[in-house]
Amino acid sequence: MKYLRKLGIFLLVGIMIMSLAGCGASKKTSSGSGTFEGQAKGKNGTIKVEVTIENKEIKKIDVIENHESEFTKDTFTKVIDTIIAANSAEVDAISGATITSSAIISAVADAVKKSGIELAPKKTTKASVKAENTSTDVVIIGAGGAGLTTAIEAKEKGANVILIEKNAVVGGNTNFATGGLNAAGTKFQEAKGIKDSIELFYEDTMKGGKNKNNPELVKILTENAAKTVEWLTERGADLSDVGRMGGASVNRTHRPTGGAGVGAHLVEVLHKKAKELGVEIRTETKAVELLVEGNKVTGVKVQVAGGAKYDIKAKAVVITTGGFGANQEKVVKYKPELKGFGTTNGPGATGDALDLVEPLNVELVDITEIQTHPTVVPEKNKMITEAVRGNGAILVNRQAKRFINELQTRDVVSKAELEQEGKTAFLVFDQNVRESLSAIEKYAKLGLLTEASSVKELAEKISVDAAELEKTINTYNTYVESKNDKDFKRPNMKTQLNKAPFYAVEVGPAVHHTMGGLKINTKAQVINKSGKVIEGLFAAGEVTGGVHGANRLGGNAVADITTYGRIAGANAADLAKK
Ligand code: FUM
Repeated sequence: MKYLRKLGIFLLVGIMIMSLAGCGASKKTSSGSGTFEGQAKGKNGTIKVEVTIENKEIKKIDVIENHESEFTKDTFTKVIDTIIAANSAEVDAISGATITSSAIISAVADAVKKSGIELAPKKTTKASVKAENTSTDVVIIGAGGAGLTTAIEAKEKGANVILIEKNAVVGGNTNFATGGLNAAGTKFQEAKGIKDSIELFYEDTMKGGKNKNNPELVKILTENAAKTVEWLTERGADLSDVGRMGGASVNRTHRPTGGAGVGAHLVEVLHKKAKELGVEIRTETKAVELLVEGNKVTGVKVQVAGGAKYDIKAKAVVITTGGFGANQEKVVKYKPELKGFGTTNGPGATGDALDLVEPLNVELVDITEIQTHPTVVPEKNKMITEAVRGNGAILVNRQAKRFINELQTRDVVSKAELEQEGKTAFLVFDQNVRESLSAIEKYAKLGLLTEASSVKELAEKISVDAAELEKTINTYNTYVESKNDKDFKRPNMKTQLNKAPFYAVEVGPAVHHTMGGLKINTKAQVINKSGKVIEGLFAAGEVTGGVHGANRLGGNAVADITTYGRIAGANAADLAKK
């Protein structure tokens, strides 16, 4: 019996070792061949790959664990293709997705090291980058949400389009947009019985921007955003969920079903559409100079990866390069008090256009107006979408007390947080809120949520007074029931916080949106310091100023980039046809 038990244990250990070897490092089949696992730390967690090597050649790389953002799909494909072509993990990272691509490269290198196989790297000639002068109808600088929208509209209007992007991947900052797209009078609002109007949307936007906005630009935005929702839906976007963001009088923030993040979804849809239509997208191609003849912009000089430059002549040029929220130097130049603040922006948001247009005497508006987003995880710079508050979360300070109407505009909430002990706060919510917004799942996967089975336990975990937190939540729940926030007059309290588990995230302000930029008119034409239209030059999205005034409302950026992207695309195509 004793002997049998020993044998059993021996066999069990043997099986465990074998299975560990199977799911672990390597399944070597013969010398120079096998399948091997490797791993490395990506932007959002571990990336694990399985590398198949046959006769010392990498034949296949499968990603078996990955927590990176949706939009990095292209990055995976590009890096894997490059590694296989080179038969080596000694390849360059991809600009615009450096952390993710470096992690894939390291994971493959790890697998190759574990294999013990010596690979013979192949000489590869970098896919030939076109560096010849060329011409087109419309050239668009920057392939984020604004650029992709502009390109589609211009192409659909019959223009030939070249869309250039300095990074290796498209999408820019739109890849990180989460909350949604504001529009009034959509069929999705109607289906949910939401009463909204263009006038109310206009008033909210002007009030949020402290009436510093250009009223004509806001009028065009608010009148056309619902048509933009339709336009995007017709091209494959899902914007059927409607929620609330700060400063809005009603629910008008459109996003994918279940409350998923809007940006990566739109980029995927728009990129696919642009490719289908035959828009020529040239990545790793940076605009270095606008070509000018007299008072007319006639194209753009670009530089490709590797350094070669060439000219793209065009009948119309559209600048859609985004803001400068990731450029600390520029941020501090225009708003010194933001020195040292983190940013929610992707690395490409460096404000290149400000330098590009300098020789043209372009008028800049509201350039010192830079917004912080109040719910960003300190150090990690991960933005927790405002939609979490919109769907019911509250903010408490280190005394476990609420200190603000959580649906106030970002400037107000950010300022209130900075007045609290530690200059941060805790975003607190329950399972009701989590179930209402699928974007929260991403935060859970990233390990950003502190989770507890009771409010008391949550308080202990975040080191605040348990009795005080219980009191704060109980009081808030009575306000939800009576629909009357006696403390802060919060207008929309979607749910009581009473369903375990309970969650908390420490949050504070980080640079989010640069409201100022190039002056445009309602046709998206760029205006110079003498108040004249610069012929042949258009701009759309965060690179422009005037739409958002002193403070942008959540959900108005995606409305802006897509609505003004359509306007710029249509007018650029019209000009090209003249
Ligand atoms: O909080 C957010 O999801 C941000 C949205 C926005 O800036 O529009």
